Amino acid sequence: MDYTHSAVRWLLGATAHPGGEALTRHLLGRLRLPTGSLVADVACGDGATLDLFARAGLLAVGVDVEPRAVAKAGRLAAAVLGDAHHLPLASGVYDAVVCECAVSTFADPAQALAEMVRVLRPGGQLAMTDVVLRRDLAPAEVTAAVDRLTSARTMPDYAALVTAAGLRVVRTEDRSVDALALTRRLARRLTAVGARGTAATARACARAVESGALSYALLVAEKPAARLR
Ligand SMILES: C[S@@+](CC[C@H](N)C(=O)[O-])C[C@H]1O[C@@H](n2cnc3c(N)ncnc32)[C@H](O)[C@@H]1O
Repeated sequence: MDYTHSAVRWLLGATAHPGGEALTRHLLGRLRLPTGSLVADVACGDGATLDLFARAGLLAVGVDVEPRAVAKAGRLAAAVLGDAHHLPLASGVYDAVVCECAVSTFADPAQALAEMVRVLRPGGQLAMTDVVLRRDLAPAEVTAAVDRLTSARTMPDYAALVTAAGLRVVRTEDRSVDALALTRRLARRLTAVGARGTAATARACARAVESGALSYALLVAEKPAARLR
C-alpha cells in the first residue's frame, strides 16, 4: 500500500496509524526523554512523527523502505531509505527507538526487533504501537481484511517477541479507543465515496473492536543497562 497517496491520506489522516498525532504525543510522554535525545523512528512513513519529535526538541532519524515516504519525510527531518530488517543505523547509540504500526507488517518481526535492539544504547527504550488481533474471536471477514495489511498478533505474542529480542517489557496499554475511532472514520469516509464493500468491511472491523477481537496497543520496553564490572 502506498501510504503517501493522497486518497490514503484522506482516509487515514495526517499519520498512518490509529490514534494519530495524539497517540504519538502520548507515547512520547511515556518515554520521558530529555531534550536532545537521539531517537530512531523505524518505518517512519512520510515523517509526521519525525516532525513532532523535532518540535519536541529531540534529534530524530527516520528509516523507511518506501522511497516516496523517505523523500517526503526528508523535507521535515533526517530520513534515510532502508529496511527495518537491516537498519542503516549505528549500533548502541539511540536513546529510544519508535516503531508505529509497522512491526506487524514486517516479513520477519523477530529480525527487525533484533535490529532495533542493536541500535539502542544500554538502558535505551523501545516504544511500539501496533494492531492487535484475537484470531480466536474475530470473524473471518475481519481476519482476512487485517491479514491483507498486517500479520497482527495478540498483545502477549508482541510482548513475547520483544522479550525474545532481549528487552524488558515495562508497559503495555490497550488503545482500542483509537482503533474504534479509525475504523469508524474509515467506514464513514468509504461510505461517502460509494465504496460500499470496503465500507462494510470497515464497519465489521469497528464491531470487532467493540467485541474485543480487534484492537490497537502501545508497548514500551527497555534494553538492559550494561553491567558494571
Ligand atoms: C502503516 S505505515 C506506518 C507509517 C508511520 N510509522 C506512521 O505511523 O504514520 C507502515 C510503514 O512501514 C513501512 N515499511 C514496511 N515495511 C518496511 C520495512 N521492511 N522496512 C522499513 N519500513 C517498512 C512502510 O513503507 C510504511 O511507511
